Amino acid sequence: MATDLKALIDAAMKARDAAYAPYSNHPVGAAVLTTSGEVFAGCNVENAAYPLGTCAEAGAIAAMVMAGEREIAHVVIVGPGEAACTPCGGCRQKIREFAGSDGKPVTICDKDGNVLLETDSAALLPHAFGPDNVDEAKR
Ligand code: THU
Repeated sequence: MATDLKALIDAAMKARDAAYAPYSNHPVGAAVLTTSGEVFAGCNVENAAYPLGTCAEAGAIAAMVMAGEREIAHVVIVGPGEAACTPCGGCRQKIREFAGSDGKPVTICDKDGNVLLETDSAALLPHAFGPDNVDEAKR
């Protein structure tokens, strides 16, 4: 495995260890690599008002944007078990915003960091609504 991918997986696993998921018992970690080579990680943060919890991908993307970065080059998601923890619909849209329309690699790993699925952001959200679909963005 490439060193870069291993580092990204390790960052996602470390983030998962910080997850606050007492309601689902489904801790998730995510790490995004930017086109400038920076890595930002996030975990899911749940809430007693269940629908208000946030996903690991959302946390990683928020950290990335806070640091002034805007371009995702690769996303890694690590779930808590053997099943592939593929991103929810909302997170596919969040990834699309910063991954562009051409598709960036998305790697899904099991609890031990073994790769279960290699896909890309465009395949995860076909015919996506993105910045170019907003008329105001063209002005
Ligand atoms: N979750 C994520 O953080 N990322 C995913 O890719 C899928 C689901 C979280 C949301 C919730 O806290 C828990 O996993 C169970 O759905």
